[in-house]
Amino acid sequence: MDNPQNLIKMQVFNLLKFADAFAGIELHLPVDNRFVKLNYSSDQFIEILRKLQQKEVIYVYILHADSHRLMDKIQDSMSAKTFYDPATIVEQKVENTEAALRIVKQVINHLGPDEKSVKLLATVNHRALSILSESPTLHAFFKKFKKNCTEEFMRTMLTNYLMSLVIDKFPWKSDALKEKGALASLLCDMLLEKEDFKIIREFEKTGIGELSERLKQHPIEVAEQLRKKRSLIPGETLTIIELHHETPDGKGFPRGLTASRFNHLACIFILCQRFVEELYEENFNFEKRVEIIERLQAKYSAKSFEKSMSALVSVVNV
Ligand SMILES: [Fe+2]
Repeated sequence: MDNPQNLIKMQVFNLLKFADAFAGIELHLPVDNRFVKLNYSSDQFIEILRKLQQKEVIYVYILHADSHRLMDKIQDSMSAKTFYDPATIVEQKVENTEAALRIVKQVINHLGPDEKSVKLLATVNHRALSILSESPTLHAFFKKFKKNCTEEFMRTMLTNYLMSLVIDKFPWKSDALKEKGALASLLCDMLLEKEDFKIIREFEKTGIGELSERLKQHPIEVAEQLRKKRSLIPGETLTIIELHHETPDGKGFPRGLTASRFNHLACIFILCQRFVEELYEENFNFEKRVEIIERLQAKYSAKSFEKSMSALVSVVNV
C-alpha cells in the first residue's frame, strides 16, 4: 500500500485534457480505505482515464515523484508552437488552459511552489491573456467561453486582463508587475473549494453572519504556504494575497486593516477583482459599468485607491 502522503489528488477531467501527453504516470485509486495502483501499459493511459470517467470516478491520485514529469509535459503541450497551432480550436485552448491551471494548483497545494510550477503558472496566464486579447470585448469573451470554463477561472482571467490594462495606464507599467499581480490572482484562493466561494461572496455582499476560521484566514494561510519559497514568489504578490479581502474602511478580513496599508499594486488588484465580481452580479451586462464604478467609488474612497480608481474608470470607459 502506498502512503497517501506521497500522493496528490487530481481530477480525472483535467488529466484527460493532457492524457496523450503523459502516458506512464502512475495512477492510484482509493479502494476500501487503501490506495491501489492501477495496472496499465503505457499506451492505454487515456483509455483508463476515460473508463474511470464513465464510471463517474472524479479523482485519481498521482505520485509526488510524477508531478514534475506531469508539469513538464503540460508545459510542452502549452508551448507556443503547439498552443498556437491554428488546428486547435479556441474553445479547446480555453479548456486546456483551465485544466493546466487546476493541475498546477493541486501540485502547489501539496508541495509548495517551485521553479516548474511557477513557470507553468506564468505560461497559463500568458495563454489566457492572449486568448482574451483576441476577443473584441470582455463581454464577447464571457459570452463565447462561459460554457467552456468554470466561473472561478473566468473571474480570475478577466481580473488579470483588466489588471494588465489598468497597469498600462501608469508610466511605471511593466510586464514584471503584471506578472506579480497575476500570480496573486491565480493563487490567492488556492485553498478554497467551489462551495467556499459562494459562502464568502454572500458574506461580503450582506455582511451577515460569521465566516468559519478556515475561510476567514485563507489569505494568511495561502501567503504563509507560499512564503516558504520566498525566492519564487515576490513580496508584492504575497502582500496582495494577504490583502485581497481587506477593505479600506477596516471591515474586511482577516485583519480588518485600514486604508494606509494598501499599496498601489494591491489597490489595482482589489479594484479589478471587485469590478469583475460586480459585473458577474449584473450578469455581465457591461451597460451597468457606471453603476458598478459608483459603488466601488463609494466603498474604496480612500486616498490610497484614488489613482487606481481613475485608471480603472478610464479603462472601462465610464
Ligand atoms: Fe479569497
